[in-house]
Amino acid sequence: MDLAGELKIPNSSITKAAENFDILGEQSEFYIWLQREQTFTIACTTSAPEANPMNIKRRDFLRSAPLTAAGFALASKYSAGVFAQSADAHIEVVLDEPLGTISPNIYGHFTENLSGVIYDGIWVGEDSKVPNIHGIRKELIDEMRKINPPIVRFPGGCFADSYDWRDGVGPVDKRPRRTNFWAGGESATAPASHRYDPNRFGTNEFVQFCRLLGAQPYLAANVRSLPAEEFYRWVEYCNSPAGSTTVADERAAAGFKDPFNVRYWGVGNEAWGCGGNFTPQAYATEFRRYTTWVPGSSKDLAFIGAGPDGANWEWTRGFFEEMSRKGRGQLHSLYGWALHHYAWNLSRGKTQDWEKGKGDAVNFDPVDWYELMHEGDRMESLIEGHWQIMGEFDPDHHVKLVVDEWGPWYRPGSELTPGDQLEQLPTLRDAVFSGMTLDTFNRHPEKVAVACCAQLINCLNSLYLAHEDKFCVTPVGHVFAMYAAHQNGQSLRSEFSAPSVHYDRDGKPASFWGLRGSTSLHDKQLIVTAVNTNLKDGLEAQIVVRGARVSSGEATVLTASDIHARNTFEQRQAVTPKTEHMQTKGDTLTFRFPAASVTKLDLRLT
Ligand code: AHR
Repeated sequence: MDLAGELKIPNSSITKAAENFDILGEQSEFYIWLQREQTFTIACTTSAPEANPMNIKRRDFLRSAPLTAAGFALASKYSAGVFAQSADAHIEVVLDEPLGTISPNIYGHFTENLSGVIYDGIWVGEDSKVPNIHGIRKELIDEMRKINPPIVRFPGGCFADSYDWRDGVGPVDKRPRRTNFWAGGESATAPASHRYDPNRFGTNEFVQFCRLLGAQPYLAANVRSLPAEEFYRWVEYCNSPAGSTTVADERAAAGFKDPFNVRYWGVGNEAWGCGGNFTPQAYATEFRRYTTWVPGSSKDLAFIGAGPDGANWEWTRGFFEEMSRKGRGQLHSLYGWALHHYAWNLSRGKTQDWEKGKGDAVNFDPVDWYELMHEGDRMESLIEGHWQIMGEFDPDHHVKLVVDEWGPWYRPGSELTPGDQLEQLPTLRDAVFSGMTLDTFNRHPEKVAVACCAQLINCLNSLYLAHEDKFCVTPVGHVFAMYAAHQNGQSLRSEFSAPSVHYDRDGKPASFWGLRGSTSLHDKQLIVTAVNTNLKDGLEAQIVVRGARVSSGEATVLTASDIHARNTFEQRQAVTPKTEHMQTKGDTLTFRFPAASVTKLDLRLT
């Protein structure tokens, strides 16, 4: 069936448009056939019964929709003919259409007291033979300093709603041992510190870690099992001036006279599940109670509500509706709304079972590669969808999105340190996944204020792996190093177009986009990052920067001949980025994005 004509989107929303693309995605090809002012008219060829022509605003369309090669050829007919026909792909950057400043905080990290994340990963102890600064692994600090870590979340995750902050402060030899929230999943051979929290690493040590990194602490409070008063006391412990309160004296006695000035506070975690099994309405009531008149709080405290898991629209709607019932002003107590999205279901549509649906971190085939990208790429429509619902109650968008847990989640079996719970071994696939996700955040600077990759070390999508004196940077860690250049830049409207990749999904045709990315401007420096998800083909792309000339450039590429490539304690350099000088010529620039790669172009403009 061929359709052409005016496109209709209920309430003109790009989210709906994105959903329509999703519905039609694998059965359709879209072609732009007319561009008039701010509107594209799109024709699509589709066998999907739901097909409707749609009308999409130019800006939104360019930000989120892929174009087929044929679509691009037609589109470029109306784009002043700037592109040569020989290139496989095109990137067009529009300098004078900034989307907003990229918050450094979207390059944040998540550290939970879970198995080897804290004990063995971050904390080795002052007396350890492992080089350390105040008990914190030195090699980790050295590596993290290279990526400008802006913010670190602690102590969970699910752990947070079982944690009493008082256990982790005060004289070290008096701190109690407690059963860790995650103890049930630990193996019999796991170190005692993974099952029974020694509380050696508490608030003081965490803040010290953040200070060593130059990062802001983001603490998650216990709503499920501690009263609001304990939350107030924790805020007071961290932030009240020296000599002002009893807990400030306790802090000073531990050697920390100056307040920690913690700004970011999570009010619980996953309150729909491990954080208390609340309904959104009940959680909203708790949220109001916990955040009303926090003693000594200044207007600078940023409270973050425990938001949805993936496409749980009812959670967002229910919470915002209930908050607003007391008046819209209530939403002003909320700085951010936490969204969690893990890409875990690699069953190719066969099951929704959390255990059975997961794939393997290191043993995977090309279909698993594209399936993981599909799962991760849902991030864009999740951001759009929750943002739209939030806007119904908060039209000025005072509340931002805080994606404080994201990454792939595989089944157990690939741990570099046997027995480490939830540890997985990141490969090149996870590097491409991470680049794709960070590009998505970059493209939505007005919506996403904070994001934390789950989790920093010895866990899911880790940047680092460590055990005793062994340490390595994973391919994901290298991606963070490459993408740090985007921090604080102006995100620019830009169009990435390339042929989709077609593959066989258990006998059914499926496809995924080939090349996408993000761009940011820093005075005369333009940063372009992109991932080529195509496993077989490199893409020769023509890059046009509208409004400037590129005088010189450098390309940094992360790829490997084997898509399963990863770094280990023995082979620390198996996957590392390579940087080379780029040839620039006039207004246009070409670059070959290798198959299965993450690329950063660092361009100097005149
Ligand atoms: O990151 C592991 C767990 O995943 C976190 O504790 C929880 O918030 C999420 O379900």
